Formats: sequence, C-alpha cells, structure tokens
Amino acid sequence: MAEAFSLSLTPPQMASLSRAAAASSRLLPRARLGFSTSSSTPSPSSLSLSSLKCLRSSPLLSHLLHRQKTTSVRASSGGLGFSSVAAPKCSASDPDQLKSAREDIKELLKSTFCHPILVRLGWHDAGTYNKNIEEWPLRGGANGSLRFEIELKHGANAGLVNAVKLLQPIRDKYSGVTYADLFQLASATAVEEAGGPKIPMKYGRVDASGPEQCPEEGRLPDAGPPSPADHLRDVFYRMGLNDKEIVALSGAHTLGRSRPERSGWGKPETKYTKDGPGAPGGQSWTVQWLKFDNSYFKDIKEKIDEELLVLPTDAILFEDPSFKVYAEKYAVDQEAFFKDYAEAHAKLSNLGAKFDPPEGIAIDDGPAEAAPEKFVAAKYSSGKKDLSETMKQKIRAEYEAVGGSPDKPLQSNYFLNIMIVIAVLALLTYLFGN
Ligand code: HEM
Repeated sequence: MAEAFSLSLTPPQMASLSRAAAASSRLLPRARLGFSTSSSTPSPSSLSLSSLKCLRSSPLLSHLLHRQKTTSVRASSGGLGFSSVAAPKCSASDPDQLKSAREDIKELLKSTFCHPILVRLGWHDAGTYNKNIEEWPLRGGANGSLRFEIELKHGANAGLVNAVKLLQPIRDKYSGVTYADLFQLASATAVEEAGGPKIPMKYGRVDASGPEQCPEEGRLPDAGPPSPADHLRDVFYRMGLNDKEIVALSGAHTLGRSRPERSGWGKPETKYTKDGPGAPGGQSWTVQWLKFDNSYFKDIKEKIDEELLVLPTDAILFEDPSFKVYAEKYAVDQEAFFKDYAEAHAKLSNLGAKFDPPEGIAIDDGPAEAAPEKFVAAKYSSGKKDLSETMKQKIRAEYEAVGGSPDKPLQSNYFLNIMIVIAVLALLTYLFGN
C-alpha cells in the first residue's frame, strides 16, 4: 500500500520539510497533517507518503509556503523508485465534479421523473447500517455497495437496478465522484427538486470495493411484519435512529409508488398513476406523488381515498403512542416536517460512511452565498492569479478548523495589549521623569 512506503530525502529536502512541518504545526495546532514535529530533523522513516500528500494538499499551507518553492521530493520504495510524489488525491470525491454531477442529475430528473426511485436508492444503500459493527465497510451504510449485483438482488431492492442504470452515465462522466456519494447526491437532489427541504449534505464517502463487502440480505425493513412498531424500532434503532427520525423519514413516501411486481405491495395501477409521468402504474401514497410535501401524513390520517396506499408500517405511525406524536404534528405542520426530515435525511445519508477527508466535503455555499463575504485571505497570496472558489473554500475550512476566519484578523488579547501599553507608559514616565 502506498501509505507504507518510506521516503529517502536529501538533507536540504529534510530541512525544508522540517521547516514546513514546524510552520504547519504553528498554523494548524490540531496537527491534522500527520507530521511529528518533536524532533527538529525528521528521520526518513518518520515521514510517510500520506503525510507528504496531505502536506502538499493542504491549501492553507501551500498558500502560505508558496514562496518557499519547496523542491520536489524524490521518493523511493525498495528499489521501485518513483521520481516525485504524484498529484495527491486526498479526498474520495472531487468537489467540482460533485457540483457538475448535481447539475446532470437535475437534468435527468427533468427528463425522466425518477425522483422517487433515486430517493429509495440512497435510502437502501445507507439503510443497511449496523451500529453494532465497527468495521468498515462490513457495518454497512452509505458506501455504494448497492451497485453490486449481489446486493441489488436482495428482495428489498427489487427494481433499484433501474436507478443504478439511470445514474451510471453520470458516474462514467465523473470518475471523480464515488458511487456512495453519487447515490446520496442523487437522493438529496431529488428531494430538493421535488419541492422538499434543502438537505444539509456533506460528501467524500469512500466506496466499498467489491461484492464481497456487501451486507447480508435482511437489514432493510419489511412493509408487513407481524408487529410493525417493534419491527421498525428493531431496524431503525440498529441504525442509530430514533422514533422521530423513523416518522420523519417515512414521510419520504410522499414521493413515488409501490409496484406489486417489485415489492408485492400496491395495486398494478390507480387513477393517479396510470398515465405516469415516467413509467405508468403502481400505487402511490399521495395524489401528487412527484411533489415533496406533508400530504403523506395528511392522507394517512384522513384515510379517505381507497386509491392511495397505506402499508402496515405507514399505518402504525398514527397508532403507536410515540410515533403518533410526530405523525400528528407533521400532518398539520409542514414546516416542522421539513425541518425534521432534512436533519434525518442528512443523518441517514452519513450512516456507516467513511469520509475522506474525515470532515467531509461541502458543496453548498452556506448562508454566506446570499450575501457573499469579501474573501480577504487572497491578500496573503504572493501570486497574481485569483484563487479558485474551491481553493478559497479549502482555505476557509482550514482557518475555521483552528477557530479563525480568513475574513478577519485572529482575535487579539485586548487586556494584554492594554497592560503592555500601560507598562510602556510607566517605563517612559520613570525614565524621563527622573
Ligand atoms: C419505514 C420502513 C419502510 C418500509 C417498510 C418501506 C417500504 C417500501 C416499499 C414496499 C416500497 C415499494 C417499492 C416498489 O414496489 O417499487 C417503497 C417505496 C419507496 N420508499 Fe420506502 N419503505 C420504508 C422507509 C422508507 C424510507 C426511510 C425512505 C426514504 C427516506 C423511503 C423511500 C421510498 C420511496 C421514495 C419509494 C418509492 C420508490 C419508487 O416510486 O420507485 N422508504 N418503500
């Protein structure tokens, strides 16, 4: 494995790296760069390739060390030398490609109306998570394992092969986006494009690498178990989710249809589904099954339309005393539903995922997007070139990681400053007063 390689460095290179490491530890006290700065001259074996990769790819560091023009580091590994450290890939997915993929997903949604199945795809990839298993990817969750045939063939996943096929051309176009991210990106985008809440997503999920890493069949919920409330709790508590999240997430059935030929549930068609849009047929939970709103809760509560589907696991949400509190609330308060849904969806999308970088990648500009703040970190740049948005975001993240901001100077200690001024004045008075 690349991380196991050690490096041979010339003395000047070691000195240069040592300076860089020391600088990094000053700038980034959390020492996220993986360097040991305890000795002034790092021994060759103390520098791993991953340390170097991360050092090189730290935008703040490279930004500030720009002028040092550190010479390229020659690395060798047991005779199989490689002349310089290859361009680092310190994250699972590329932020720019994630953004472009999102635009392509929006186009796909417009042309195929596949919002519901994409939401189901993201949920079924993440929903295999078992919090009692520590080891990744055996713990299941959002790791893209649902792309493998063996998992697509699980009974609960009937029909989801179509969702993977819809996304495959996008994945082929953006090889810098993992399947795990693509599935969750598609699901969140589908909810948002259907009129649902903005989901506070992060990306950077690492993919499971082979079918042998797929979870065993049977981790997803049944629609008609003997005791629906107990069953829902067994399955969702295993994922680390609670009653509120069970009810909020069930609200995703405001979208889509059930097809008897896939799950065995629902009618072959209803007056609401016989003409599509998309492939006609199936039975929907709501009249407008491509619109994300709280009508799922309203319709189950009213129980007046025979054409609409209510699974046993849907009905129980208005029967179980604890679930009922939330279901009743969401039926009358769409805002509350949207808020809880967005939080629960984001949590679901992260279950079991291994993020690279560990803190994940944000592709949405925060509230600052509406009123963009002036980015003043650029004034530290020695180059004439403008920083890219991605680079600005990365630098911002690194400043924020140490409790600062690129937009304002680091907080000074006003009390100490005043004390120093008083001390200087006292000294001057003493010197010139005598
Ligand atoms: C609470 C336990 C759940 C059960 C028992 C359940 C069961 C089902 C079943 C039987 C179908 C029909 C599949 C078909 O025939 O094609 C379905 C569809 C769907 N489910 Fe669930 N589900 C559950 C939770 C969820 C959650 C948590 C989400 C998302 C957050 C979700 C999203 C969807 C969507 C969007 C569809 C429609 C898919 C389409 O139209 O192609 N479900 N679900």
